[in-house]
Amino acid sequence: MDKQKFLITTAIDYCNDVIHVGHAYEKLLADALARYYRLTHEAKNVYFLTGTDEHGTTNEKAAQKRGISTEEHVTEISQKDQAQIDSLNVSYDRFIRTTDSDHVQIAADFYQKAVDNGDIYKGTYEGLYCESCESYKTLTELDENGQCPLHPTKEIQKYEEENYFFAWSKYQDFLLDLIESNKIQVLPDGKRSEMLAFLREGLQDIPVTRPKYKLPWGITAPNDEDHVLYVWFDALINYFTAGSQNNLWNDETFIIHFVGKDIARWHVLLWPAMLQSAGYQLPDTVYVHGFMNLNGQKISKSRGNVIAPSELVDKYGADAVRYYLLKHGPIVEDVDISIPQFEEVYTADLANGLGNLVARTAKVLEKAGYQTKPADYSQYPQTPEMESRWSEYRADQVAILIWEKIRDLDKYIDETKPWELLKSNEVLSAENSNVWEKLTVEIREIAQLVEPFIPDAAAKIKAQFAGTSIASTEGLFPRLTS
Ligand code: ME8
Ligand code: MG
Repeated sequence: MDKQKFLITTAIDYCNDVIHVGHAYEKLLADALARYYRLTHEAKNVYFLTGTDEHGTTNEKAAQKRGISTEEHVTEISQKDQAQIDSLNVSYDRFIRTTDSDHVQIAADFYQKAVDNGDIYKGTYEGLYCESCESYKTLTELDENGQCPLHPTKEIQKYEEENYFFAWSKYQDFLLDLIESNKIQVLPDGKRSEMLAFLREGLQDIPVTRPKYKLPWGITAPNDEDHVLYVWFDALINYFTAGSQNNLWNDETFIIHFVGKDIARWHVLLWPAMLQSAGYQLPDTVYVHGFMNLNGQKISKSRGNVIAPSELVDKYGADAVRYYLLKHGPIVEDVDISIPQFEEVYTADLANGLGNLVARTAKVLEKAGYQTKPADYSQYPQTPEMESRWSEYRADQVAILIWEKIRDLDKYIDETKPWELLKSNEVLSAENSNVWEKLTVEIREIAQLVEPFIPDAAAKIKAQFAGTSIASTEGLFPRLTS
């Protein structure tokens, strides 16, 4: 890849309620990549964006239910969301809110560009709407009970209203070419096929405003003050707001969006059409992940089967939650998560795996009194295989390779039995020193490699192994007590 600047984004979350581990998973996926790019490129050229989606019906209704103003409600939820992702050490550069004043202005200007290009016209929408998806639905998209399959606990709404429409259908051929030629990369491949299939059925123009008398909570449309921007049109522009404000929305920047499979269509089909209409740079990649389930059901705010990230962090620590979700999360397919599985993985890979390895290595090096060169952490010591898996955004697959290296070193220790070497007359003989040096170098490399996954532990190990002599310290991952 020749671009040297990176804009990495996640979806921005609705503020109907506080985010759960499913949302957090997406942040972690993007965070691991952002950290990896910072380690392998100029860190200052990596910009990581996340935030909250604060306009629209779902947020407004949630506020009404609580009997407080929408502004007060979304501010409170947005702050709680931010605290949740902070608890996981998500290293975002900006936490954008669609109520931020720069975004409100930039979104209105963006819409006006589409108006100026003749892509916005007045019409009447008569049809169905799922307020939890914030999207227009056709009958064929509903389940056998006439409900949205993603939000079976919510009533489908019937809307009949005057709106301004976006001439989406005009961009059908443009989008087909864009995806077929991979000018925009849609990953994984199955999602790309799904988007192409949907596109081949034909695009319908969609409303991109809502009448203010029905929904006052939004950004006023610059061409008609009786309308607000449709929440998806508004929300997608958040990427452009932050990107353009930082001089990143141009062809020098590699732009990648991480999104869940329920919102792939908006990012792969609507967003590029909007950008083309307004005359702006297109993103490079959309990575679509699956759903995180509990007992086979999507973890979902509207279902209420949620787990708060911070609950897990309080009990197991941020690194452990990060590792478990990144390694076992729904990167391609949907997956079930569970606490018993989490605890098994914690014990095997972190407490008995990395934690024990570092502890026993430090102990023998300390006892040997081995003196070495200070660490040089300037190069990220990845193998070509790791690099190739990162280039496919498969953080889970990279973790497998790193933990193979950890197991290999464990095996080397079991075979070399360094504690036996400590008993020899010449602990620091040339032959023994080869062993001490190998242990030192390998642990330093592992400490660097794990940084995108478990940054706290990485920092601790790096510090412990930085100097000319190594001292043992307390364990990194305490054993779980039941
Ligand atoms: O869709 N597993 O917001 P949202 C994995 N505001 N990912 C999940 C998940 C689960 N169980 N539940 C939700 C919106 N997500 C819009 C986005 S972007 C311009 C606007 C993911 O709060 C979901 O797929 O409903 C989406 O990518 C993100 O969390 C936000 O979902
Ligand atoms: Mg949702």
